[in-house]
Amino acid sequence: MPHEFVPGLEGVPIAKSAISFVDGLKGILEYRGIRIQHLAEHSTYEETAHLLLKGELPDPATLDAIIHDLAHHRRLESQIIELIKCLPEYGHPMDALQAAIAALGMFHPAKDVTDDARNFRACIRLIAKLPTIVSAYERFRNGAEILPPLDGLGHSANFLYMLTGEEPNPVSVNALDVCLILHADHTMNASTFSGRVTGSTLADPYTVVSSAVGTLAGPLHGGANEQVLDMLRDIGSVQHAESYIEEKMANKERIMGFGHRVYKTKDPRAIILRRLADQMTEEHGSTELYEIALKVDDVVTERLGAKGIYANVDFYSGIVYDALGIRPDAFTPIFAMGRVAGWLAHWLEQLIDNRIFRPTQIYAGEHDVQYIPTEQRGGNPR
Ligand code: ACO
Repeated sequence: MPHEFVPGLEGVPIAKSAISFVDGLKGILEYRGIRIQHLAEHSTYEETAHLLLKGELPDPATLDAIIHDLAHHRRLESQIIELIKCLPEYGHPMDALQAAIAALGMFHPAKDVTDDARNFRACIRLIAKLPTIVSAYERFRNGAEILPPLDGLGHSANFLYMLTGEEPNPVSVNALDVCLILHADHTMNASTFSGRVTGSTLADPYTVVSSAVGTLAGPLHGGANEQVLDMLRDIGSVQHAESYIEEKMANKERIMGFGHRVYKTKDPRAIILRRLADQMTEEHGSTELYEIALKVDDVVTERLGAKGIYANVDFYSGIVYDALGIRPDAFTPIFAMGRVAGWLAHWLEQLIDNRIFRPTQIYAGEHDVQYIPTEQRGGNPR
């Protein structure tokens, strides 16, 4: 049966899913039916990860068990640490993350994906270890000693500790935790689709997550928050912000951190992050970069808001990460640390009623082309 070609599969459903829901016109995002605002305000990343994976909030004993299991799996194998040390320090942290996750799968064979309990254990192991990998590569490329996790600290606090070597303050821990919650899932985006495609071949979860990490690495997906910071630095001062944006608009250039394929109103995650950035500046004092960001938000909203273009999650997440002292090219790995729970929830869901993805194409090439032997082919002589 002939099908219409839909570039980018825009609007084409590829799964029935009960994990997250977006209403782009009303600005609603829910995980398992719970509004993102409530989770950002009341939940923790550990609890939200359980919600996504299991479909319900954990009772107190289950939550304790999850926290315990994450702590148990947080440490990296010494060989993975050695592998990280063999990578070039000038590489991109997303490449380091993808390589380390793929290698991790070799230490924890999970080729049989038919056992629910074993699959869940693999999910916990992956969620636990991603921050340890990200912080290990970060310290290695900065020439610092790689630190093991501290058992008494929670998920977000441990990451900040492993990154800086200091126990973080509660404002910073809450800021990172909220960022991880906000990034934990977002319906059928490119990296989630990529993970589901890989999962549909019955590949193991380490391979699933490493494919999703590779897809997230592209600038049209996870890389925009890095470019937001570049743009704000390029603007340089609040006075310059308006003319900079006008020039971009006159040249028909995209303003990084604005617009969204789904949201045609304010991205609810950006609203939460802006509030968080405000709280952080109240605590630590404002920065020129933050003042520039607020001005850019005002100018773009005034000029493009009528077209449904507003700040997206990437605009303010970069600012929060910058305030936490994190380098811009480590922003996308932190996105992955949050999104891994969503990728794995989709992997588990894909396995329930799996059918391998095998789309089709509309052939646009030639037929019956004659084979010409090498020596008879034209072209420029070397
Ligand atoms: N700056 C200026 N104009 C924009 C922007 C922007 N950031 N985004 C969209 N537009 C304009 C387009 O130029 C176009 O205008 P026209 O109708 O006059 O030609 C119109 O809005 C519609 O553009 P589309 O490309 O059709 O919008 P789409 O919904 O496909 O784009 C996208 C979504 C890719 C995210 C886009 O807004 C963009 O490139 N934004 C900047 C990059 C970015 O911030 N990416 C992160 C997205 S969030 C995430 O991945 C987690």
